[in-house]
Amino acid sequence: MIGFIDSGIGGLFVFNECLKVCPNNEFIYLADNRNIPFGNKTKQQLKVIAEKNCKLLVEKGCDIIVFACNTLTAAAISHCRKVFSQIFFIGIEPAILPAIKNGGKTLVLLTNATFKFSKLINANLKNNNLVFNPQSILANDIEKNKVKNLACYFAKDNFKNVVLGCTHYNFIRNEISSFLGNVNFFEASTGVASRLKNFAKNNEKQKISFIFTGAEEKERYLKILKNLN
Ligand code: DGL
Repeated sequence: MIGFIDSGIGGLFVFNECLKVCPNNEFIYLADNRNIPFGNKTKQQLKVIAEKNCKLLVEKGCDIIVFACNTLTAAAISHCRKVFSQIFFIGIEPAILPAIKNGGKTLVLLTNATFKFSKLINANLKNNNLVFNPQSILANDIEKNKVKNLACYFAKDNFKNVVLGCTHYNFIRNEISSFLGNVNFFEASTGVASRLKNFAKNNEKQKISFIFTGAEEKERYLKILKNLN
């Protein structure tokens, strides 16, 4: 059984990529929507949140857990790998390396916590082509469907690339393109999916269930997942 964790709808984008290459399996999508936004929490809080959510998924029978969340990966995946040594974990990280390879100026959108705790981000802070823009409310605004004019979140520049360093940001690609013009998007969902494909056994049937720690949103989430196809 394969579990997915995010604070909300962001991870559905990753989940959908995984379903494309690995459709026949039993999946549980855990939206910890009581704790959204993850991105403004401390490392210690994120470790507690991640451990609690993993415990829930392990009790349900998961043997693979996907952190469909850059924030949780940056702050807590290595902690959870130690605590749940029998579980195979897959995380997601901001796709800055392919963006760097593409050349030009890159806007890196990410949460405050990913900016602070990601080793990959820290190792690339001095790259002058990368403009890091940690966001405190954007993921929550996307979750609640109340995104304002993007000028309220970040400034325009002649960006060639945009790294979507939080899975929620996939849902505002059109808005980003209208605001910034023609940019190349980079994010790591397909990488997660191909990793999962290598490790997941293929069953005969697909089964999807949801866990919400806050308000029950199953119908809305299923609709979003359907619209991604
Ligand atoms: N979707 C998550 C990420 O990829 C976090 C959003 C949040 O709760 O701040 O970082």
